[in-house]
Amino acid sequence: MKRLALILWCALFSSPAFSETSLSVAVADWNASEAKAKAIVSRMTPEEKAGQMIQAERRYMKISDITRYCLGSVLSGGGSVPGKNTVADWRNMIGQMQAAAAETRLGIPVIYGVDAVHGHNNLAGAVIFPHNSGLGASPDGRGAFTAGKETAKAIRQTGVTWTFAPCIAAAQDIRWGRTYESFSENPGKVTACALSAMRGIHDGGAVSCIKHFAGDGGTLFGTSQKTPGLLDQGDTRIPEEEFYETHLNQYKKLIDNGAMTVMASYSSFNGVKMHENYRYLTEVLKNRWQFRGFVVSDYAAIEQCSGKNYRDNVILCVNAGIDMLMEPIRWKQAYRAILYGMRKGLISRERVDDAVTRILTVKFLSGLMDEPVPAYEETDTDAVRAEARKAAESTFVLLKNEENLLPLKPNAKVCILGPAADSVGVLCGGWTIEWLGKTVNPAVGGKTFREAVTQFLEAGGGAVTDHPDEADVILLALGEEPYAEFFGDAADLSLYGDKALKGNRAAVEAARKAGKATVAVLVAGRPRIVSEEIKSWKAFVMAWLPGSEGADALVNVLWGRAPFVGRLPFSWPAANDAVDAKAVRRTGKILFSYGFGLRGSL
Ligand code: GLC
Repeated sequence: MKRLALILWCALFSSPAFSETSLSVAVADWNASEAKAKAIVSRMTPEEKAGQMIQAERRYMKISDITRYCLGSVLSGGGSVPGKNTVADWRNMIGQMQAAAAETRLGIPVIYGVDAVHGHNNLAGAVIFPHNSGLGASPDGRGAFTAGKETAKAIRQTGVTWTFAPCIAAAQDIRWGRTYESFSENPGKVTACALSAMRGIHDGGAVSCIKHFAGDGGTLFGTSQKTPGLLDQGDTRIPEEEFYETHLNQYKKLIDNGAMTVMASYSSFNGVKMHENYRYLTEVLKNRWQFRGFVVSDYAAIEQCSGKNYRDNVILCVNAGIDMLMEPIRWKQAYRAILYGMRKGLISRERVDDAVTRILTVKFLSGLMDEPVPAYEETDTDAVRAEARKAAESTFVLLKNEENLLPLKPNAKVCILGPAADSVGVLCGGWTIEWLGKTVNPAVGGKTFREAVTQFLEAGGGAVTDHPDEADVILLALGEEPYAEFFGDAADLSLYGDKALKGNRAAVEAARKAGKATVAVLVAGRPRIVSEEIKSWKAFVMAWLPGSEGADALVNVLWGRAPFVGRLPFSWPAANDAVDAKAVRRTGKILFSYGFGLRGSL
């Protein structure tokens, strides 16, 4: 009972500790953690072992299930939040879960996982950082480290210690709906940014999860199982050498630098689902590269595999190297399938002991076993907002600036056109409060682009007008609607095509008709085809998905209060019929090359 009371108290009432919590993997000793894990595994029953291999989703379980099944983990899927989605509601939920875990024979805490991929993006009012495609434009990955560290601190404050980040895909075809989760098409750039992001997450005291292993960003257009004719969760059909160079080797680098968990990819490599791919999950990742953490499956991915039924798929994937099963809804079936496989000798005791040892090793390594609910630490939200704004400033890429139109004058008279001007939700993109994000997203703080420009100009003697003919310059804010995963797959990447904001066309027309100097800003997770439209713009800025502080950050670079330092992490196609990186290179139909970016004239 004492431990129970302590956990509950800690979850709800612990006094704010001001010590910086840092999970420095270099200090924490994998060997000591693994030895402690092995000692516990040697005392565990088959049921306890099977329970530790299960990750259920919070909406599809009862708190008491944690005690009954000795569950190893619980997750929040995108947008799955407790109560009124306050810090206290999160701490209360996790405190109750850890109290239930304390009631089990061995008292092993659950590890709670969320997709905090650009801030604690499930939490109402969270500071939202730029998505990865923007962070990939930031020099030397500086934005990625800051975003990782502040995100880790933010999830710990709510009792969460594991984030399913960073995604280390090297997206090769920007029609993929998850391009914005990729740092770059270039694996070297991905590795540099991912290392920064992971170090930031560990520095902030949370457990990282590098994903999706492997080849998620290399699927062939038209091979998607999820969105027939498109890309997500499709088949990566390339020679093995290219598979290593573009999609695999970044995992080795991250593992050598302390990666603790890996998430398997829904996609396939040359027709073999990665979730059942023993060669890569075990022979390469664990045996050759000596990965000592654990592999978690993706959300209900196991049922997509080639077994003749669900139970067979569980056995197939566990034997291939999956250690923890993210089976949000069918978790009881998965639990029973593991026990069945053990009883029938279809899953060896060694395999189960290895999986559970890996899981407990990470629980020891991360400090979870000693502190099931992280002590509450106050946050200086203004300071975090400032970090997010600086990170966003470092992502913007100046692609055109005729007659040095930029930086604009503080007393300029500006007309703002375009659908990206009036939505913080568009600035944040997907994985924001809701899984897919929302154009109108009241739970997100921050200003719209129009609000930030108006506030700045009114303070500096300038003005905003609704009439283009009265303006010195037109700010044209175009963009994409928020989306996530396969919902973001696109065949038509024009400004009026798939996932483009409906108001883009009218705004482009209005700006052209006005015949005034126009600065176009594109708020999107990936490049779009602008080869015709750009001819009538004097200046053009790629803003990516800059987050809740993106509007103020944009004002700062447009008015020269911060420099343009971003460089393109993706090739920018000139035409919709050659958009994947290879086609762009092969055909030469390129508008801007990988790495391009003008320096603003300050
Ligand atoms: C999703 C994503 C993965 C995410 C997981 C949990 O389907 O593929 O990136 O971490 O489910 O939300």
